[in-house]
Amino acid sequence: MTTATTSPQHRPDTGAAGAERPSGAAGSAAGSAPFSTVLREATREEHTAAETRGFITRLMGGELEEGDYWRLLAQYLPVYEALEQSIAAAAEVDPLAAAFHDARLARVAAIRCDLAARFGKDAEVDPPLPVTERYARRIREATVPQLLAHHYLRYLGDLSGGQAIGALVARHYQVPGGQLAMWDFSAIDKPKRVKDEYRARLDEITDPEIRDEFLAETKRGYELAGELFAALDR
Ligand code: HEM
Repeated sequence: MTTATTSPQHRPDTGAAGAERPSGAAGSAAGSAPFSTVLREATREEHTAAETRGFITRLMGGELEEGDYWRLLAQYLPVYEALEQSIAAAAEVDPLAAAFHDARLARVAAIRCDLAARFGKDAEVDPPLPVTERYARRIREATVPQLLAHHYLRYLGDLSGGQAIGALVARHYQVPGGQLAMWDFSAIDKPKRVKDEYRARLDEITDPEIRDEFLAETKRGYELAGELFAALDR
């Protein structure tokens, strides 16, 4: 069940709604800095910790096998199912969620397509690992600001390092383009443009409480992504 709230304070333009808190991590401490900048800078360490996990470094370095890429993609499926079902449901009742929901970003159909292209339409995929179940549950139980943190993490990540993952698995493991829809956002626009627009939407979030909740969950999300990489190590 998603616990997305319908509170009107979750509108992106509600900066004046809350008094700034003296010790707010993402609100007052950062003054009026654009939220996209606050987020990136305040989570730099967590990002580095996730992207330097052994599994993903070795996968991208060509040191693993093609099957390891598919083990990762199979785990992503329940994570994106949770994310995409939750954001669609939240967008129906919450204006802030609606401001971010964009069905064109959705990856579940692309993941299913890639898995079917590789293993056949009715092939069974790996069941979720315990960490994947925890990750998906966390997303399903998120409040709207927390849910948006996962939304930001997954899609901006896919549009950034994800682009490199797609290119490198093609190069190292000869995964053909027809099996890499996961990383293809060309139906929307160039990754940079999509990211710039996304960051502009982030910058409309000025409410310090929403910023703090979003930022804290972003850190948690990086940890979960890193734990998933760790679980795939062998
Ligand atoms: C394979 C490992 C990874 C690599 C090589 C990588 C690389 C990058 C690079 C180069 C950027 C900067 C892009 C830009 O400024 O436009 C970036 C941004 C980002 N990455 Fe990663 N990344 C990796 C893993 C992850 C993971 C696991 C997550 C989270 C699930 C993630 C989430 C993000 C986010 C949210 C941004 C946008 C930061 C911002 O500008 O607000 N990345 N990544």
